[in-house]
Amino acid sequence: MANALYNLIIRRRTIRLFRQREISLGIIKRIVNAARLAPSAANFQFLEYLVITKPDLREKTFPHTRWGGYVYPKRVPSKERRPSAYIIILINKRKSEKPDIRDVGAAAENILLTATSFSLGGCWIKSLERSPLRKTLKIPSHYIIDSLIALGYPAESPKLEEADNVKYWLDKKNRLHVPKRPLENITHYNSIKR
Ligand SMILES: Cc1cc2nc3c(=O)[nH]c(=O)nc-3n(C[C@H](O)[C@H](O)[C@H](O)COP(=O)(O)O)c2cc1C
Repeated sequence: MANALYNLIIRRRTIRLFRQREISLGIIKRIVNAARLAPSAANFQFLEYLVITKPDLREKTFPHTRWGGYVYPKRVPSKERRPSAYIIILINKRKSEKPDIRDVGAAAENILLTATSFSLGGCWIKSLERSPLRKTLKIPSHYIIDSLIALGYPAESPKLEEADNVKYWLDKKNRLHVPKRPLENITHYNSIKR
């Protein structure tokens, strides 16, 4: 079954090591546009995006991000492997009193898949030092910092594994393996028997 979107979804893996190559503004714009067009509960559209591409701001952002907990510290990117851009996902409190966080999931996956379609890789990061990040990037208080997506051209190729466990791991060659629960373990046809 050849289907471009399905193949893209299967191909996408979290990338934490990047080549040092800039991302064109045209591609960044298309990535944010894909986020903009994601489904939104009651169509409140409270999400906004702070795009960080300037080298000095990238350098100030990185220390407030946390990477690859299960393989720490091997997937904390060194200076030569850091992202080319960050998209900080912000919730504008003025647009919704009770923002439905499911919106973030939809937008973030659109970002990651669109990035993959342009041969980029990304890492969605919720483990952030939000207060210093807010200060450094001068983010006003009516925005909640939800999470961030680091983007860049991949310098690793993680491998999908069929396994019913949680922890991703590194092999002897420093390749990342990412377990996903098998389809038959998570699908219940018509009734739940297990
Ligand atoms: C909501 C959310 C938050 C995440 N936060 C982090 C994070 O703080 N740091 C990190 O290195 N990866 C983070 N990840 C990436 C996950 O570790 C990754 O998606 C998971 O290991 C599965 O790998 P895959 O994306 O290749 O399928 C996050 C993913 C999600 C969905």
